[in-house]
Amino acid sequence: MNSAERSRSDLRAGELDAQRKDRVGGVHIPVLFQAVLDGLHLGPGGRYIDATVGGGGHAAGILVASSPDGRLLGLDRDPAALNVARARLASFGERVVFVYSSFTHLRESARAHNFVPADGILLDLGLSSLQLADPSRGFAFMSDGPLDMRFDPQSAGPTAADLVNELPAEELTRLLYRYGEERLARRVAEAIVAARPLHTTGELAAAVEQALGGALSSSKGRRRRIHPATRTFQALRIAVNEELVALEAALPQAVEILAPGGRLAVISFHSLEDRIVKRFMRRESRDCICPPEMPVCTCDHKAALRLITRKPVRPTKGETAANPRARSARLRIAERV
Ligand SMILES: C[S@@+](CC[C@H](N)C(=O)[O-])C[C@H]1O[C@@H](n2cnc3c(N)ncnc32)[C@H](O)[C@@H]1O
Repeated sequence: MNSAERSRSDLRAGELDAQRKDRVGGVHIPVLFQAVLDGLHLGPGGRYIDATVGGGGHAAGILVASSPDGRLLGLDRDPAALNVARARLASFGERVVFVYSSFTHLRESARAHNFVPADGILLDLGLSSLQLADPSRGFAFMSDGPLDMRFDPQSAGPTAADLVNELPAEELTRLLYRYGEERLARRVAEAIVAARPLHTTGELAAAVEQALGGALSSSKGRRRRIHPATRTFQALRIAVNEELVALEAALPQAVEILAPGGRLAVISFHSLEDRIVKRFMRRESRDCICPPEMPVCTCDHKAALRLITRKPVRPTKGETAANPRARSARLRIAERV
């Protein structure tokens, strides 16, 4: 077995071990793993950016597939996630550079570490199983912990507790409706206001359950039943971390720093994110973005991307069975022209 084959076989063994640990909440299984690696068109000598390095699962795959000398810049705004990635990817030595930063500063981080032009960029949005499994981070309604939900616990930004305890009911209603697509947002917001002050995830989950009758609700357009607090927790996490704003800021920067032929891969986990990615990629793949009623083009817009996936790549039933977190994942890929 040569060294590249050995790395691949180590990686597969590592993934199996990771999957075993994930069942007890200890590790993050990268979703759509092979589709991401294939879609990024990885090769030796390439410069790749994993803008959400998390547990380092995709990053390990990228480094193996770009052996022996491909390099990777791994960003995360969670210092704890970066420590996990550092430990997991230690064997790749100087081929990996880690940066504690939000991908809202993608261009700046890439320039500072000589990753421009980049041959591939990955954004695997949302939170990792590691963050979800740690009650002290406050992301989970299934375990009790402080209502925090910040990806970056060192940031000065508001916590989920600040939002639920301080926002007026009207604003809370809008937040839950907009970011959680919670149809009963007003009812939930009023229950939260009545239950103040809320300090823990358990208290918040109980308030939501009480408002929604404690029954499992079905998610939009599907028969799958979800916990009643799911949408409230999603909405608060998105608001606390300004996730949609960050995504909107990162996408144009990714296009700007990609080399011609370089690929951008984005995995989203809910329709709000996917809509932003879809619209951005569609718009950037058109030569003219004038309104249809314009008789002649006046926008001078030039396509910067070529769509590789017209429809998002979804996980197979097998992947979803092995890793329920993959259930709502959608992968979109585009290439810099
Ligand atoms: C789904 S996990 C990524 C998992 C990773 N692909 C793996 O295979 O282990 C998402 C990660 O993105 C990080 N994150 C979320 N928003 C971020 C942002 N604006 N900038 C940088 N990292 C962010 C989270 O802290 C989390 O670690």
